[in-house]
Amino acid sequence: MIGRLLSSSRVIRRTLVLGAVAALSMGLAMAEIPRANAAADPPGTTLGVAAALSGRYFGTAINASKLGDTAYTTITGREFDMVTPENEMTIDATEPWQGQFVFTNADRVVDWAVRNGKRVRGHALLWHSGQPQWLLTLSGAALRQAMTDHINGVMAHYKGKIYAWDVVNEAFADGSGARRNSNFQRTGDDWIEAAFRTARAADPAAKLCYNDYAIESWTSAKTQAVYTMVKDFTSRGVPIDCVGFQAHLSSGSDPYPGDFRTTLQNFAALGVDVQITELDVPGAPAATYAAVVGDCLAVSRCTGVTVWGVRDPDSWRSGDTPLLFDGDGDKKPAYTAVLNALNAAVPGASPSPTPPGGSCTATLLPGAKWPARYNLGVTVTGSDHWVVTMTLSRTQSVVATWNVRARWDSARNVLTARPGGHGGSWGVTIKHHGRPALPTVSCRPA
Ligand code: G3I
Repeated sequence: MIGRLLSSSRVIRRTLVLGAVAALSMGLAMAEIPRANAAADPPGTTLGVAAALSGRYFGTAINASKLGDTAYTTITGREFDMVTPENEMTIDATEPWQGQFVFTNADRVVDWAVRNGKRVRGHALLWHSGQPQWLLTLSGAALRQAMTDHINGVMAHYKGKIYAWDVVNEAFADGSGARRNSNFQRTGDDWIEAAFRTARAADPAAKLCYNDYAIESWTSAKTQAVYTMVKDFTSRGVPIDCVGFQAHLSSGSDPYPGDFRTTLQNFAALGVDVQITELDVPGAPAATYAAVVGDCLAVSRCTGVTVWGVRDPDSWRSGDTPLLFDGDGDKKPAYTAVLNALNAAVPGASPSPTPPGGSCTATLLPGAKWPARYNLGVTVTGSDHWVVTMTLSRTQSVVATWNVRARWDSARNVLTARPGGHGGSWGVTIKHHGRPALPTVSCRPA
């Protein structure tokens, strides 16, 4: 019985989390025997596993053009459990001509992520940069309609596959509380609100984030302006779930501020999750990396950290050597500092649960397939207290689960799953007899 794998003891829980992350990273072989592999590898030896132990993720930006580089994919597969397409989802990449969507490169990233058990942050739906020429020629109502159509086109293509979308990126000006002067802004102040409302309708299961840089310091005018907007949105019911703090640090106006933790706490107090979304620091000082990660770990609603690239030469500012791995793929001192900070996470600092009640949604994410088995990721949103019921066809059976407390009833062909200390993201390996049809699934708050 799968339920036998479960225990409330910390040691076994850590072992299960490790097995789960290993399974997610390495596909079916690990998924079938999570405990055996977990025993061979102590907890917290990779960034993703160490972050998962406090209920968080550790991610990186990845680039479709590098997925053929084995050294790159080996590090990414091993260390990270969330990926952000670095450039593949900007408007010029996904809608180079009006109404004609191109997902080739973005699909390469998302398919790689799904095959390797990673979640995906979508980046970015509306951004003043990376716009195709056709969009820059529009204004007024025509531009507003094109913005809506773009959000709908991209989100429909990736519906159910994206953990969180950067719905709007970098909409505020540097050094003031003003909005950035852009073609989007010139359609009217309400363009951000309209984007979030469109996005919620397009994929209700995806978390919707506002993302920006130089908003780490609580005292900066830009931070205050974003805070005021998020406070206004949450007070009026405009759908927003998260705020991303890019943390491209020490680039002139954006040094590491000692009050970053205060900023994270104050935004979280508005009822949104906060995430560090594009972290890089020139020279990769270990102390700064550890401090930033420590700030996230200290805030219960800080749900994860993403670094903006894998190895130094992969960085958009490679000359600054700002990342955790050097050009040979070796771990830098900052890597060790981050890993130690994650492993030292205070028990109880895990993301705070939402109260029982309400509703929840379970979304299936098809993963790796083999002749007689397939992996299925499941993402539950809407509640932290849930019961998912998965009904398989009579020719199928469950052979493994990860990141979840699960009970398999072979008589009824029903899997009953409850939170396993890893949030709403979990998975199952299903054995089939030539009929790999997806199961039916339902979710109820518990
Ligand atoms: O792929 C073309 C190549 O064919 C061409 O020869 C070459 C010549 O310029 O350009 C290549 O495209 C470049 C692309 O990165 C891929 O390498 C673009 O010029 C270049 O502008 C683009 O830079 C990206 C930048 O955003 C602007 O879009 C960086 O990789 C990317 O890391 C950076 O990421 C941003 C986040 O999206 C938002 N926050 C800030 C962050 C850093 O600027």
